[in-house]
Amino acid sequence: MVVVKSPCEMQGIARKIHGGGKTIAVVPTMGFLHEGHLSLVDQAKKEADVVVLTLFVNPIQFGPNEDYAVYPRDQKRDEALCEARGVDYLFAPDVGDMYSPDASVKIDESSLSRHLCGAVRPGHFSGVCTVVTKLFNITMADAAVFGQKDAQQVAVVRRMVRDLNIPVRIVMAPIVREADGLAMSSRNTRLTPEGRKAALGLSAALKAAKAAYDAGERDADKARALMRATMEASGLKVDYASAVDYGTLENTATLAPGTLLAVAAYSGPVRLIDNCLL
Ligand code: PAF
Repeated sequence: MVVVKSPCEMQGIARKIHGGGKTIAVVPTMGFLHEGHLSLVDQAKKEADVVVLTLFVNPIQFGPNEDYAVYPRDQKRDEALCEARGVDYLFAPDVGDMYSPDASVKIDESSLSRHLCGAVRPGHFSGVCTVVTKLFNITMADAAVFGQKDAQQVAVVRRMVRDLNIPVRIVMAPIVREADGLAMSSRNTRLTPEGRKAALGLSAALKAAKAAYDAGERDADKARALMRATMEASGLKVDYASAVDYGTLENTATLAPGTLLAVAAYSGPVRLIDNCLL
């Protein structure tokens, strides 16, 4: 595996790969890798000849009171995990490699970004769209693999790729969970033992709503109330408990195939998200 820090060097490598008739799949990450990320690498290997994993904690997608400073980082550990999983190139730039001090261009998706996490994290999806576009341009990827845990992010990136004719195929891979149901996330490492127990309220809320749906419940308000109550009973501070149409991310009145059940809550200071696509 080759570790690359410079965007120019990465572009040069990508050009050579394409020149040799091979395709590239990128897995964009912010590092502190876990099995969820590594499952994206497995998927990427099925999508293209060469896999590039990007490792960059993107400052412009964090709000001023969010966890940029304390976001877990360990590049050496990530390098070892990537190498063992068969990543070909690890692109790990510094902030200064990615953003000029006078950078003045950003990308805004103005519809899907207004809902769910976007409603409480102003500027977040603009930061994501901007960095993801840069990562697509730098790695010249033919395919990009994202996890369903960030289902809104996938919807926003797909919309951006469609609307800007970016020549990359977006692949969404399933959520990977711990044995007890907690969705894997780099942020889980910041949970205290009690916070870790409370965090199970997110997956429990989705499980309860999905079970109600499977038993015939179609009232989205009832599903929202059930998810909220389940999270509160677990000791979480609920950010949202939503049932939306995955095409528009607008609230839905009726549960149906294509409805996204999405939850976000704080366990202590740690904000966690999870979802289930009916
Ligand atoms: O999902 C993430 O880890 C980040 O939002 C991404 C896509 C790597 C952009 O910084």
